[in-house]
Amino acid sequence: MNKPTTSQKQSTGIVPPKGRLGVLIPGMGAVATTLIAGVNLIAKGHGRPIGSLTQMQKIQIGNGGTSRYVAIKDLVHLTEPTDLVFGGWDITPENTYQTACNANVLSREMLSKVRRELEAIAPWRGVFDQAYVRNLKGTHVKTGASKMDLAKALMNDIKRFLADNDLERAVMLWCGSTEVYSETGLVHQTLESFERGLNDNAPEIAPSMIYAYASLMCDIPFSNGAPNLSVEIPALVDFANRKGIAIGGRDFKTGQTMMKTVVAPGLKTRMLGLEGWYSTNIIGNKDGEVLDDYGSFKSKEVSKGRVLDSILQPDLYPELYGDYHHKIRIDYYPPRGDAKEGWDNIDIQGWLDQPMQIKVNFLCRDSILAAPIALDLILFMDLAQRAGLNGIQEWLSFYYKAPTMPDSREPEHDLFIQHLMLTNMLRSLAEEEALDQSDLGENVAKLVVR
Ligand SMILES: NC(=O)c1ccc[n+]([C@@H]2O[C@H](COP(=O)([O-])OP(=O)(O)OC[C@H]3O[C@@H](n4cnc5c(N)ncnc54)[C@H](O)[C@@H]3O)[C@@H](O)[C@H]2O)c1
Repeated sequence: MNKPTTSQKQSTGIVPPKGRLGVLIPGMGAVATTLIAGVNLIAKGHGRPIGSLTQMQKIQIGNGGTSRYVAIKDLVHLTEPTDLVFGGWDITPENTYQTACNANVLSREMLSKVRRELEAIAPWRGVFDQAYVRNLKGTHVKTGASKMDLAKALMNDIKRFLADNDLERAVMLWCGSTEVYSETGLVHQTLESFERGLNDNAPEIAPSMIYAYASLMCDIPFSNGAPNLSVEIPALVDFANRKGIAIGGRDFKTGQTMMKTVVAPGLKTRMLGLEGWYSTNIIGNKDGEVLDDYGSFKSKEVSKGRVLDSILQPDLYPELYGDYHHKIRIDYYPPRGDAKEGWDNIDIQGWLDQPMQIKVNFLCRDSILAAPIALDLILFMDLAQRAGLNGIQEWLSFYYKAPTMPDSREPEHDLFIQHLMLTNMLRSLAEEEALDQSDLGENVAKLVVR
């Protein structure tokens, strides 16, 4: 690794990473195993961490003639991926190697190079309720008289994992299946009502919320990669704020939504109108099977759906964006496995209301796009915790389809503004000057200085 030069400052206020970092993952499926296999393969020189900002990106520091580009990992003190220790839960007992083979994201030839490391990680029994993921059956699950008992069992797993691996720090990242759509109710409002609900087996408390609660109880930052509610309920947000724990979510922004948050800002910047945006996907992995149930799909639909309105500002531009049709479909199609294909048909309007169309056909690999996001979130959540940034980490909105906000403001969805938020937080942590203009190119900065 390149060591920071003397001109590259590290903030003195951040506790440097000491020892290894535990990574606790509820849901050891395609994303989790692609992440773990990838970290091990990269450590052995069998691949590059493409798509990861923490590993590859250089950002502009300073404006005008004195500006320079510094790798993020040289600007702020991040844990090395080789210092990550993985553990987690699943509702099926297969070890990480077996699951990675079944997920069929990486070839057997690649997986064979890290087979020993992957076979050493087998999931602990999960906390599961089929009412929340109707298309799956749990065969490797915890039992307990109450949801509070299950939460305590998770806390015991966490404590054992930390002790066995001699760890002082950990991060939890929900990579479990998408739970059915639900909204916050009375039981989710305060820690008291939530804990009462755990004791009384309140049906409104989803398994992902029990993991989030266990994580916060153990002072461990929690991030949610799926679209369902987990930590984003008032009781747990308030608890995280009071305990000083970093949290964030939700839903990794990987394929189609990532493209949407790139194209839509372009249309708006150019003042091109929008009549309709039809997005459809075929996907054949276990995630696709889960999303084949309407309850889980609704969580995904809601998380994907808010993006366009937020970027296009129909209130400000009713004549261009006040009445567009937005349709999202996901079809489960087993032959495709993890190789998702997304189509977008975008009906736009130009000069004199003349219609035009844009077609986007993204042949992506779901978990290949998600794994670097998962790695960055783990490393940045740990950084946030060490830097004393408590509660919801708005600066990490870049990574989520439906960023959770610390207050009643609408989240930012424009990928490039999100990127500026992220990099400015890093600049600030490194005690460098924030860029108030786009950091997309030196020319922009020069123009501003003049
Ligand atoms: N792959 C992507 O690009 C992407 C993008 C955005 C969001 N996501 C979300 O990330 C999550 C993981 O995606 P994936 O492709 O790895 O799915 P997956 O189906 O391969 O893995 C999910 C795993 O979670 C397990 N699980 C379900 N409920 C659980 C529980 N209560 N406790 C413990 N384990 C549980 C399942 O058995 C499965 O192994 C999904 O919610 C998905 O919607 C994925």
